[in-house]
Amino acid sequence: MALERTLAILKPDCLEKKLVGTVVARIEAAGFTICGMRMVALTPRDVAAFYAAHRTRPFFSSLTGFMARGPVVVLALEKEDAVQDFRELIGATDPAQAAPGTVRREYASSKGENVVHGSDSVASGKAEIAFFFAARDLLRT
Ligand code: RTP
Ligand code: MG
Repeated sequence: MALERTLAILKPDCLEKKLVGTVVARIEAAGFTICGMRMVALTPRDVAAFYAAHRTRPFFSSLTGFMARGPVVVLALEKEDAVQDFRELIGATDPAQAAPGTVRREYASSKGENVVHGSDSVASGKAEIAFFFAARDLLRT
């Protein structure tokens, strides 16, 4: 067990469906501490930089269009084993494959529009939090 930080993004569909409060409540109930939180309107360029690893994937242009469609809420979250525990809370990328009770299974409409992002490793969590937050906007360790 190690105290970790991970980045969550409540994607445009989460805001459109008015599920921000519901998902934040799920995050807090699961024991995560919110270390930083803000709303941001990403440009397609911002999305391309954030999801640079997916640049050559066939879904990349729909991903950039979707993520820039409206504002998102970004959260820096802290907990023991935060990276893995957050991925378990949100479930598999495709809501049809996600375990019952997970956020994506309950609220996502498709593999592309799946309500929430979670970092996939401690290293990417650190880089992704730095992508969105200045030090003064985060809870101090
Ligand atoms: P995320 O990074 O957003 O937490 O999602 P993930 O790890 O579960 O999935 P990843 O493979 O990193 O894909 C990033 C996001 O791209 C969109 N996507 N669409 N239509 C498709 O086949 C497809 N595959 C991926 C989703 O929004 C996914 O969350
Ligand atoms: Mg991912």
